[in-house]
Amino acid sequence: MRDTIIAARGLSKSYRRGSENVHALRATDLSVGKGEFVSIVGPSGSGKSTLLHLLGLLETPSSGRISLQGRETSWLKERDLVKVRRGSIGFVFQQFLLLPTLTVEENIELPLLFSRKSVNKDRIAGIMEMLELTHRARHLPHQLSGGEMQRVSIGRALVNEPGIIMADEPTGNLDTATADKIYSLFKRLNEGGLSLIVVTHNMELAGRADRVIRLRDGQIISD
Ligand SMILES: Nc1ncnc2c1ncn2[C@@H]1O[C@H](COP(=O)(O)OP(=O)(O)O)[C@@H](O)[C@H]1O
Ligand SMILES: [Mg+2]
Repeated sequence: MRDTIIAARGLSKSYRRGSENVHALRATDLSVGKGEFVSIVGPSGSGKSTLLHLLGLLETPSSGRISLQGRETSWLKERDLVKVRRGSIGFVFQQFLLLPTLTVEENIELPLLFSRKSVNKDRIAGIMEMLELTHRARHLPHQLSGGEMQRVSIGRALVNEPGIIMADEPTGNLDTATADKIYSLFKRLNEGGLSLIVVTHNMELAGRADRVIRLRDGQIISD
């Protein structure tokens, strides 16, 4: 059995909406192995983003616990959570979330500044080359295609050398061919040893992962 990178036990999350309680995620157990590529699928509102945000330590669960690389996270204060998150997890979102006034190169370097790490220009050049962005290094996000913008956000997710990438509908704003290329890139990164958890609506793309988890009404219905 391979090592576990992330393990969740009894994870649940409820939101208050007016007078009702929305159970976005119900008592969920899930373990992801090091080097595994996992897809999460399910209808809109089934709790996919909630699960990903909890696993990514972006939100705190209503109950349950998460351990990341063998380390229990439940007791960590926000300041330490931020550190663990920055060092261990790379995030990719549907909306890319690039800073519009920074170049491609600067967007990729940004997490290093937040982590107070020095910028190794050769490494950044290597990341841009791997992502086929070298010719775009000095361009601003609005000059890029959707696929290029998503590759920049993947570069930004990789720059701190995380053990795992978590992506929420990363191809939701991309055409089929471009989405396919992003998945090929994920596959290549996974072959290099990176773990990935990718939320998607697209069953065909989901099938390219090692493992497909289906959610419905805040519960895992198949794995
Ligand atoms: N911040 C929030 N406040 C209230 N309800 C929320 C919030 N975030 C998600 N929900 C609700 O939780 C459920 C699951 O949402 P979500 O995890 O975003 O689903 P998915 O990503 O599968 O579309 C939905 O009913 C949604 O409306
Ligand atoms: Mg969602």
